Amino acid sequence: MKNKVTIVGAGNVGATTAHWLAAAEIADLVLLDIPQLEKMPMGKALDLTQAGPVRGYDAVITGTNSYADTKDSDIVVVTAGVARKPGMTREDLVQINQKIISDVMAQALAASPNAIYIMVTNPLDTMVYLAHKVTGLPRERLFGQAGVLDSARFRTFIARELNVSVENVQASVLGGHGDEMVPLVRYSTVAGVPIGELMSREQVDRIVERTRKGGGEIVELLKTGSAYYAPGASVAKMVEAILKDKKLIVPASVYLRGEYGLNDICFGVPVKLGAQGVEQIIEYKLTSEERLMFDKSVSLIRGTMSALKF
Ligand code: NAI
Ligand code: 2OP
Repeated sequence: MKNKVTIVGAGNVGATTAHWLAAAEIADLVLLDIPQLEKMPMGKALDLTQAGPVRGYDAVITGTNSYADTKDSDIVVVTAGVARKPGMTREDLVQINQKIISDVMAQALAASPNAIYIMVTNPLDTMVYLAHKVTGLPRERLFGQAGVLDSARFRTFIARELNVSVENVQASVLGGHGDEMVPLVRYSTVAGVPIGELMSREQVDRIVERTRKGGGEIVELLKTGSAYYAPGASVAKMVEAILKDKKLIVPASVYLRGEYGLNDICFGVPVKLGAQGVEQIIEYKLTSEERLMFDKSVSLIRGTMSALKF
């Protein structure tokens, strides 16, 4: 029997995640969006289904407005939410998305109590934290995607700078999904060689800064929304790692209980992803400079979390 993956929010990131997953042919998919959008998710599901004969996949892809169709999903990806609009403060956004995520999680959990939940909605770490509070799910089965995307941006910029394949570049971005994220230069390598030996400090600093502002750079270019190809690919990578029980080490936003000296916060750290979801949290030894960057990122995330209303 095929696995079942539900994607809540059939907008740009949701539909693109479905696209990557359909092409990988590893699960049947359900795309859910709000009744006000009527049959939009059905339209996207049918369109994606009709690409199957061309691309050679047989996934069953269902569009719906009803959680009944999501019943007994193995994985639920949550991209539902609104983006920040001009004039809206971060706090306004948190409160609007708090309502959406609280409602989505209650309904999704009732239909799929045993699923693994991957959160995507921004502000990411705060929404993962909220989802924990409203569901009480164990952290192994509820976490967020951001670090795979941020690391992909970092890897892209390193590869471009050195004119090498992205496949040769290993790099990891930890911390909160925001301007104070922590690209770990010391652990970033090209074919095993640390990037500090291949680039000047000025080059590294420029790439780190561009990575931190990576989401904003795309928004500036698109004007009408935020990134979705790389975010969708990043979510699909996490889904595949779970369904294939790969034991893949990637950064994810996970609820911390003492790891990295942090408590009661969802924060981007390296985790091992397998059939049980987050199967291990990996603790890197940080230098005092890295620790300082971590602490700045923690402060930013805690500031955003303080806009949640319980
Ligand atoms: P979008 O606006 O294209 O799609 C969002 C969809 O959610 C819309 O179709 C909307 O109707 C739906 N939605 C709203 N309320 C809902 C509800 N109660 N139930 C079900 N569906 C609902 O936005 P996009 O570009 O897909 O982004 C989605 C979210 O993901 C945003 O919060 C965005 O900031 C975030 N994001 C996070 C990334 C990450 O790395 N964590 C990367 C890119 C985007
Ligand atoms: C990004 O980093 C908007 O969080 C989204 O592209």
